Amino acid sequence: MNDTFLKACRGEKTDYTPIWMMRQAGRYLPEYQKIRGKVSFLELCKNPELCVEVTLQPIDRLNMDAAILFSDILIPMQAMGATLEFHEGKGPIFPQTVRSKKELDKLSVPDPIEKTGFVMETIRLLRKELKVPLIGFAGAPFTCATYLIEGGSSKVFWETKKMMYTNPALFHELMEKITKTTSRYLLAQAEAGAQALQLFDSWAGILAPGDFEEFALPYATKILTELRQTGVPLIYFANNGATLLDLSVTTGADVIGLDWRINIGDAIRRVGKKAVQGNIDPFALLLPKEALRQRIKRLLADAEGAHGHIFNLGHGIHQFTPPDQAKFAVDCVHELSSRQS
Ligand code: CP3
Repeated sequence: MNDTFLKACRGEKTDYTPIWMMRQAGRYLPEYQKIRGKVSFLELCKNPELCVEVTLQPIDRLNMDAAILFSDILIPMQAMGATLEFHEGKGPIFPQTVRSKKELDKLSVPDPIEKTGFVMETIRLLRKELKVPLIGFAGAPFTCATYLIEGGSSKVFWETKKMMYTNPALFHELMEKITKTTSRYLLAQAEAGAQALQLFDSWAGILAPGDFEEFALPYATKILTELRQTGVPLIYFANNGATLLDLSVTTGADVIGLDWRINIGDAIRRVGKKAVQGNIDPFALLLPKEALRQRIKRLLADAEGAHGHIFNLGHGIHQFTPPDQAKFAVDCVHELSSRQS
C-alpha cells in the first residue's frame, strides 16, 4: 500500500509530495460521463458498484496518491428526511426549504447504516481494490445548512444570514441536528474503512470571522473532536478561508485545506505544526504545460517548511479541464518533489 498521503497528513517525512484533487472523480473524465449517460447523479451515488468504478477512474488514469469516496455532501441531508433533487445543469435543489421550527422538526438524526448503508458498502468494496488510502468525507454543518435553508446553491445567502441574525436559536438548533448526523455518519465511514476524513466547508468564507466563530466553528470542532477516537487523520477545508485560518486551526484538524487565494508559505507560517493541503488555482490546470510546471515548482518551494504537505487544487477540478493536463500536473508534482535521489 502507498501510504505517502497518510504520512504527509501526520507530518512525517515522505519520499515525495503526495497529490490528489478535490472532485477528482467527475465530469471532466469521459469515462465518468459514460456512466452518467446511463444513470442519474443520485442513482449513481446510491449504487456501490458504480461508485467504486468512478472512484477508481482518476486513480487509474491520473496516478493519484489518495482516493476520495464518490458521493455528495448532501446525501446525509436527504437521509435526515430532506427532499433532494439534482436538476441537469442547475446543481442541487431542496424544494422544501428549512426556515421554520416546524420544518426543522420534520428532520431526523438518522442511523447512518440504515439510511446510508450504500456509502458504507462502497467504502468496504473500495478498500478491497485500492492500493492508495481512501478518504471519506462530509459537508461541514454550516455548508450543509445553507443548502437546506436556501433550497439549493446561492450567491448571497440571504435566507441563511436572515435566520442567523433574526432567529439564532432556530439556526443553532438546525446546526445541532446536522452536527449529530454528521458525527455519526463519519464515525460509520471510519468503521467501514475510511482511512482519513475530510470536512468540506465550501461556504464558510461568506462569514465574518466573528460570525464564523459563533455560528459555524463550534460545530465543525465538535465533529472533529468526536472523530478523534477513530485515529484517522482529519482534514478541515474552509473554502475562501484565508481570513479564517487562525480560527480553522482551533478545530483540531490534523490537516488544514487551503484554497488558492493565500500563498501557501504564508499559510504554513500561520497554521503552526499542522499539515496543509492545497492549493493551486484549479484553472491553473489550463496553463500551457511549461508555465504549469513552473507554477507547481514555485508552490512546492513555497511549501518547503510545511509539517506535511499534500498537494491539491484550491477547490474542485473544473469540468472542462483536459484530463491530460491533470495527469501532467500529477507527474510534475511527483517528479519535482522527489527527495529520493
Ligand atoms: O471529490 C470527489 O471526487 C468526490 C466526490 C464529490 C462530489 N461532490 C461529487 C459530485 C465530493 C467530495 C463532493 C462534495 C460537494 N458536493 C461539495 C463540497 C465541495 C465543493 O465543491 O465545494 C458541495 C458544495 C457539493 C454540492 C454539490 N454537488 C453541488 C453544488 C453540485 C453541482 C456541481 C456542478 O458542477 O453542477 C453537486 C453535484 C456533484 N457532486 C457532481 C459530482 C461529480 C456533478 C454531478 C453530475 O452532473 O454528474
